[in-house]
Amino acid sequence: MMNGAELEILEARLSSFGQQHLLQFWPQLSPAERKELFDEILNLKLEEVTQFFKRTMSFSSTDQKKLDDRLQPVADDVYGSALRTNEDKLELYENIGLREIANGTVGVLLLAGGQGTRLGVSYPKGMYNVGLPSQKTLYQIQAERIRRLETLASEKFNGIKGNGIPWYIMTSEHTKEPTLDYFAKHNYFGLKRENLVVFEQGMLPCFTFDGKIILETKSKISKSPDGNGGLYRALREKKILDDVERRGIQYLHVYCVDNILVKMADPVFMGFAISKGADCAAKTVEKTFPEEAVGVVCKVDGKYRVVEYSEITLNTAKRRNDDGRLTFSAGNICNHFFTTEFLRNIIDNEENSLMHHVAKKKIPTVDENGKTFVPSAPNGIKMEKFVFDVFQCSKNFVVWDVVRDEEFSPLKNADGAAKDTPTTARHDLYTLHERFLRKAGAVFVNKDKSIIPPLLNGLNGTTNGQEANNNDIEKCGMKRPEVIVCEISPLVSYSGENLEHFVAGKTLCQPFTLRAPEE
Ligand code: UD1
Repeated sequence: MMNGAELEILEARLSSFGQQHLLQFWPQLSPAERKELFDEILNLKLEEVTQFFKRTMSFSSTDQKKLDDRLQPVADDVYGSALRTNEDKLELYENIGLREIANGTVGVLLLAGGQGTRLGVSYPKGMYNVGLPSQKTLYQIQAERIRRLETLASEKFNGIKGNGIPWYIMTSEHTKEPTLDYFAKHNYFGLKRENLVVFEQGMLPCFTFDGKIILETKSKISKSPDGNGGLYRALREKKILDDVERRGIQYLHVYCVDNILVKMADPVFMGFAISKGADCAAKTVEKTFPEEAVGVVCKVDGKYRVVEYSEITLNTAKRRNDDGRLTFSAGNICNHFFTTEFLRNIIDNEENSLMHHVAKKKIPTVDENGKTFVPSAPNGIKMEKFVFDVFQCSKNFVVWDVVRDEEFSPLKNADGAAKDTPTTARHDLYTLHERFLRKAGAVFVNKDKSIIPPLLNGLNGTTNGQEANNNDIEKCGMKRPEVIVCEISPLVSYSGENLEHFVAGKTLCQPFTLRAPEE
């Protein structure tokens, strides 16, 4: 335990950084609380974090200056669209992606260090069960998609070299242990244990607007994860990029945890980026309305970047082209492609100069009596780096635009909110799976054997001739529910393939689930 002299040294150190208030409740603390606070302060890199605060505050005010005037949409020559690419080309990209997977050069990296505040759960978001018939969680769905992809690559190219697709999961202080326990308890959902690498990102103290580190309790400093761009520091400090290189991985797909439709290591996206010689790429969907809470991929001062929904002004977000489409329409879905070489350069040479962003938040803190309360208005900032801030370092950046209904349905909010809830995630998955099943020749019927008509607005017209029109449906008096409950196991199909021999010509009743034999 510390003595008086050590306390004095600590006080002096704190006061040289203007943080002596951290000891304000010291006389009231129990020995255990004193130890907790002492250790916390010792572990704070005071010089660095106070410097981050200053740099961040001055950067955010200059960066925001006339941001609107500096924005340009994504240039045509770096832009590819799944909808406007013909089948042959798509197949070519897919084969390139699958070949690299079979060569053992592709890895996936999940950003799962967020706190899930909006969803309101205390456990990692990946462990969330949205209520599918299978009760599979986001982590399980993703694990099974990796397994299926390995099978596809192996079937196409006669086996996989090495160990298959490694799955790196970035967690934070709150999500690491539960994530590890969860996977262990479920036997890694059939993945090879050595292919799962869970690591932890850094935490940063929260500051008041005038630069004081916030106390969450009398003896505990308020901290939060350093943003999903904390990835780069963690790749270096936890030696994760060394592991990536050691395994011979050349391409990484980096994505966020909450999108139930995510196509991990999507061979088409990977193949597109690889064939363009890109070092860095983003998958996007068309932003639907100006206020939508997605960042937009664009150019700022000639360099690629994502401007977050919190950073763009409504006036700019509302700008439209002559054809009526939003000018800044490349909606970021947090699906990125990086070459290992690019990441090596980032962590060796660029990471330190990537700026933190400011998130003004209501941060739980103590009153003058040391009692914790949640303020009613923002009282401070969290500092976060963003994963896409490295786009500006790219020498060859490309964008791959995909169909929202096929690839993007994020889980952000609890049920009751207008969008991005467990219900919308579930429904979007059912709708996509219904289309896959119909395309494979299935017909859906009610309990009384009457036919359930297909959805009207087909995805790329993929309903295998079953597309009805409003008139037909009205004439037959056919009614369909909002969604048909149907779920295809990712172990059976990654993106709609491999279904014909299960369902062609069959009539299916809901709820319908298609499982792999081993399930
Ligand atoms: C993110 C994107 C936004 C995009 C949207 C689409 C960023 C910074 N923003 O916004 O441009 O339009 O997704 O859904 O990427 N995470 C960490 N560590 C952290 C913070 C977050 O790993 O410190 C992870 C989360 O667990 C999640 C992902 O990063 O998997 C995205 O974080 P989230 O807070 O959901 O980002 P959004 O604000 O929704």
